[in-house]
Amino acid sequence: MNDMTLHDLIADRIRAAGRITFADYMAACLYEPGLGYYTSPGRKVGTEGDFYTSITVHATFGRVIAREIAAMWRSMDCPADFTLVEAGAGHGRLACDIMDFLAEQQPDCYAATKLVLVEQEPTLAEAQAALLANHAARLSWLSPAELPGFRFSGVLYSNELLDAMPVHRVLMSPQGLKEIYVTLDGDQFQDQSDLPSTPALAAYLDRFGIPLHPGQEAEVSLAGLAWFEDVAECLQQGFILTIDYGWAKAELYSPQRNLGTLLCYYKHTVEDNPYQRLGQQDITTHINFSALIERGEELGLKPLWFGEQSRFLLSAGVIEELEQIEASDLPEKDKLRLRLIIKRLIMPEGGMGDTFRVLVQSKGVTDPRLGCLRGISL
Ligand SMILES: C[S@@+](CC[C@H](N)C(=O)[O-])C[C@H]1O[C@@H](n2cnc3c(N)ncnc32)[C@H](O)[C@@H]1O
Repeated sequence: MNDMTLHDLIADRIRAAGRITFADYMAACLYEPGLGYYTSPGRKVGTEGDFYTSITVHATFGRVIAREIAAMWRSMDCPADFTLVEAGAGHGRLACDIMDFLAEQQPDCYAATKLVLVEQEPTLAEAQAALLANHAARLSWLSPAELPGFRFSGVLYSNELLDAMPVHRVLMSPQGLKEIYVTLDGDQFQDQSDLPSTPALAAYLDRFGIPLHPGQEAEVSLAGLAWFEDVAECLQQGFILTIDYGWAKAELYSPQRNLGTLLCYYKHTVEDNPYQRLGQQDITTHINFSALIERGEELGLKPLWFGEQSRFLLSAGVIEELEQIEASDLPEKDKLRLRLIIKRLIMPEGGMGDTFRVLVQSKGVTDPRLGCLRGISL
């Protein structure tokens, strides 16, 4: 890699092509090798990073997911070969919390489990291997390019993966659907709207029955949908568990979100200008869960549960986790700290319980007996 900055590199691409799609711009900002937000050194999540994810808050989140994973394994009649795939595994914290829980509390399920981590940034494999050293015998990796060719039975899960995939931006103008491109004004990046770069954008809106209102801007995640179609094919039997910011289409594309949902995170502040701090700030959008549900059904995935993270955690076992903490011989001050942490994971307002949604889908499982289905299902 030469000393070119990300700004110069993207600017050169725009000068060469006249303009680029926002999806190409976002892909470069997040994933340009050595320069992108996720592909350059530095801590992204947690107190010293730019944002928190549920897994950085406390192991309870992973432990509740693990309870549900064990219930999935039992719903599949306890297969001797059970593959867990985590896509967008980051540093491996969630995978570690899940595997620790299974080893400790569900040894039969643990003995059957193989863990496969998939992560866009290959250098994270070292951190993942160190964190998961106790589970090394069960651990392997696939690159994102290898994943579509992989076939497995078990569970594919992700936390905040799809919100980090590049999106196209569109605008409903009086002349019809336009795409918002990125172009240059001198040295500054700016929006430019014109005819869409691909008919796939209008086809996406048509296919999912999304009427944009005049003047409305929105994001379309063609990359997210393509990724999901691939993993739906990879899964032979089992479950897909998706945790992310997002809504069903009626909420996501409602006129109240007239400017879309694009947000940038930098050191725990939120902004909406993607044309600053290139490679230093995260760029995310809320995801369209309806696309996963509807396309999933076409691909043989049955939607089992969809709703707020708080409801999911409550019905999937966070209360049992709390009971274990209360019954433990931890000092009272540690119990209090853990209670407050769990409150943060499930609190609707100001916490993470309402912001995130969880979708559970199954394939070829006749009688799924999951904790989340004890509560309100779809
Ligand atoms: C917002 S981070 C979330 C990381 C972790 N799951 C968490 O909750 O802290 C998104 C992660 O997904 C990775 N990623 C993006 N596209 C990917 C893909 N197609 N396959 C696997 N990982 C991907 C990024 O490199 C990044 O590490």
